Amino acid sequence: MSHSEGLRCPFHRSKISPHTTYTAHFEEPPQKTWWHKIWPAMKEIGAKISFSSFRNAWYIYSQKDINGLLVKICKPGELVSHMRTPTGTQYIVRDPTLLQLVLSQYRNEEQGLFHVPDNKKLFINKIVRDLYPEEMAQITDQEKEVISAVIFTAESAHISSLRARVMSFLKHKTVQNYKEQLDQIAGDILDQLSPSEKQACDPAQLVFEYAISVIGRLFTGYYTTRENYQKVVQALLTIGKVIGDGIVQRPPSEQEKHDYQVALQTMRELIEQNIALEPTPAFIAGLKENGFSAFAIKVYVFFLYLAGTETTAAVTHYLLLELGRDENRHYQNAIRQEAPDSSLLKKCTIEALRLNPPVYIMGRVLRKDVLLTLRDTQNALIWSKWIRKGSYLVNWVAGAGRNPALYPNPEVFNPLRFETIPTQFPWLPFTTGHHTCPGQFLAKAEMESLISEILKRFEIETPACKGPIETKGLFTLHADPQAKIKIKLHAIKEIAPD
Ligand code: HEM
Repeated sequence: MSHSEGLRCPFHRSKISPHTTYTAHFEEPPQKTWWHKIWPAMKEIGAKISFSSFRNAWYIYSQKDINGLLVKICKPGELVSHMRTPTGTQYIVRDPTLLQLVLSQYRNEEQGLFHVPDNKKLFINKIVRDLYPEEMAQITDQEKEVISAVIFTAESAHISSLRARVMSFLKHKTVQNYKEQLDQIAGDILDQLSPSEKQACDPAQLVFEYAISVIGRLFTGYYTTRENYQKVVQALLTIGKVIGDGIVQRPPSEQEKHDYQVALQTMRELIEQNIALEPTPAFIAGLKENGFSAFAIKVYVFFLYLAGTETTAAVTHYLLLELGRDENRHYQNAIRQEAPDSSLLKKCTIEALRLNPPVYIMGRVLRKDVLLTLRDTQNALIWSKWIRKGSYLVNWVAGAGRNPALYPNPEVFNPLRFETIPTQFPWLPFTTGHHTCPGQFLAKAEMESLISEILKRFEIETPACKGPIETKGLFTLHADPQAKIKIKLHAIKEIAPD
């Protein structure tokens, strides 16, 4: 693998040539001397109270944008960058070989290298507790552990049963059978757009409505009106905002507290309706057969709506904005001409995921000291870094996607840069290894289906977008919501044949 940006090597104080081929490893760190114990601890105290630590915290708090800060902090060529924060130094990993090494580890196995504390803090102890306070007050610690493990931390013992059930609905082959239904869902929404919605279409709202309708109609058996799906959109947007505010520890206003309660109530009602359906939707029946308790099913359905919508919506929104820009509009016709199974459209989705991977960072905390190394083809050490137990690794997939050595002119949307469609390393928006996203085939199929249904009916124009599309990343990475860029959907006379 050779994809360095001409990396600076702190170990040898020399540059690693962009043509170097290397592999990454975890190795035993050297024996600690008393100096090796005291010096890092002293440096860490200094880092916590440094000016840059508070400046970084302020940037994230005021801009609500972690991704923008990472862009500022990481120098071209650094393999692992340092971000000082009041809670300690965080290590930013964006080299794809290193990312592959870290992300292919189990997330939360007792004997494993990493654990992920954020999920439990943000989701289980906050959102689920707020959603179901009574149930959460009553459940035993053991049940809580199971829910936490099944839903998020996915320890290896739980992974296989969860994955087997979820994968039977989400694997590539099954998803191919959803194509007609996905087109139908997209078509239903598009055919109901009002003239004013077409004239000034909010792409964020449109794609979210579509993603929620997909989860509702395909998995939880929830068929309802656009108005009701839009209520769920609103609820999930509010909950997403609360999660984002939780990340920056921003206290909510009275109005926000009220909106959050309304959102929770909407979700509770939705989940109750979904699980009470007769006959039981196959997906929910499958969870029951797998031994999920009634409460675990409710929580799982909630997470299916959350994990399966915000992500897909964020990147489809980004793609719509890109396709509508003057310099990219020619792709629309080219996709129409290649319909129904356009490889250009597939390349556009891949390129949008490169530039705007919704899950742009994945946090991992080290359970023990490690020596992170790069070795050349002769197994000679070319770089190493000693990272200590308890350190927080920010695995910055969005940064890897903008590596100029891999993607020349990385800021430019260029679907034609891909000769073949990548599904893995070094393209990592769905991560790799044990925790690869099980929803990736559905996500890509959804994107393709919505865009091709739009292009059958409309020409997309993004009038107010001359420069690159600004993105912001807190909970997920998405086009800057403050910019509120609208698109125009112009009806086309000739509808492309099916
Ligand atoms: C473009 C859309 C999507 C992206 C970029 C994405 C990305 C990811 C990533 C990177 C992870 C791993 C997180 C980590 O290791 O910390 C993940 C996990 C997961 N995703 Fe997705 N996802 C998307 C859509 C979906 C959809 C549509 C579904 C379900 C319908 C879904 C369900 C899940 C689940 C259940 C997990 C946890 C898997 C496990 O830990 O075993 N995702 N996703």
